[in-house]
Amino acid sequence: MMQNKLLKIIEEAERGRIMTVEEMTDLFATADGKVVQELFQAADRVRHSAVGDEIHLRALVEFSNYCRNNCCYCGIRLDNRQVERYRMEPDEVVEALASAHRMDIGTAVLQSGDDLWYDTDKIIRIIRGIKESYGMAVTLSIGERSYEDYQAFKAAGADRFLIRHETSDPELYAELHPGMTLEHRLLCLRRLKELGYQTGSGNMVGLPGQTCLSLARDVELIRDMGLEMAGIGPFIPAEGTPLADAECGTLNLVLREVAMLRLSSPLLMIPATTAVATIDPQGRQQALRCGANILMPNFTPMRYRESYRLYPGKACINESSEQCIGCMSRMISSIGRTVGRGPGHSLMQNDECGLRNDYRTNCKQDG
Ligand code: 5AD
Ligand code: FES
Repeated sequence: MMQNKLLKIIEEAERGRIMTVEEMTDLFATADGKVVQELFQAADRVRHSAVGDEIHLRALVEFSNYCRNNCCYCGIRLDNRQVERYRMEPDEVVEALASAHRMDIGTAVLQSGDDLWYDTDKIIRIIRGIKESYGMAVTLSIGERSYEDYQAFKAAGADRFLIRHETSDPELYAELHPGMTLEHRLLCLRRLKELGYQTGSGNMVGLPGQTCLSLARDVELIRDMGLEMAGIGPFIPAEGTPLADAECGTLNLVLREVAMLRLSSPLLMIPATTAVATIDPQGRQQALRCGANILMPNFTPMRYRESYRLYPGKACINESSEQCIGCMSRMISSIGRTVGRGPGHSLMQNDECGLRNDYRTNCKQDG
């Protein structure tokens, strides 16, 4: 592919033209360093003009590592018997966020394995506790639940929901997720949007069998579903999983996706993920400079950190949340940005259902 042609695609995308899947595939595949640098810089400019220089902090609590699923890449999959399992009581989850509230962080992100021990009432107790004690925005990241559950959590005050689609390739999805389907995952995303959540998805980069075409389709999916948030990280092989010996995803490919997401969905909330920090000490800084605008300091109590191991070498597990906030504040100033104030809600305006194109059907039917 000619350099000039790719540079022109980037230039037009920066001015708002929607990139085709073929064009994005070429941008994932190119070996031309100048093109890639231009892609990163264009995304950084769009980030600056669309969402500004503020980096919003989200306080993450990983409250349970029990999981009923067996995702082939994930360190806390059901069949991994090496994991020491833990569950935090609802009150303990609320308590873990007290220091985040004192530090003026506006959002709590509650993440767990797909763990039905937390029934509707327990999750509602956590949401209400956080709302009553701190008034923080609440983001749930607890996997696939019924429409009725999503509805009840929203009614209890939950603001946002994260559920990554992991890969937009349906066959690869089925291979990596025994007993699960991409179709059902997308149904969950549509329901969440329909219920009025600010909704986030995302995928891993560098999965075995993943192609540049399927990465381009990941970007397209996030754009066409009109999602408000997207988390992107490299696949990192984890011990005790069927993919323990597979190859790790690369930072460069992750950054390309972050940049293309910023160009195709300018208002998207994009975190510089822990996984990018894990594969490269400068990973987060780099992601923040080619499109990302969110950081998620870890507020999981120290005694559980080691056990929430989705992949090895996880960044920041030995740093206290106070240390992480200090480190992140320095990181933010060193790249000439500022810490966001308030809840940092999505700036996207949604239409009635919030969905575009062919994603707009059958929200309530079961799949
Ligand atoms: N490498 C990278 N990311 C992983 N996740 C789970 N396991 C791994 C791994 N081995 C990601 C998935 C999940 C998120 C919480 O963590 O994308 O949605
Ligand atoms: Fe956690 Fe630097 S961001 S220690």
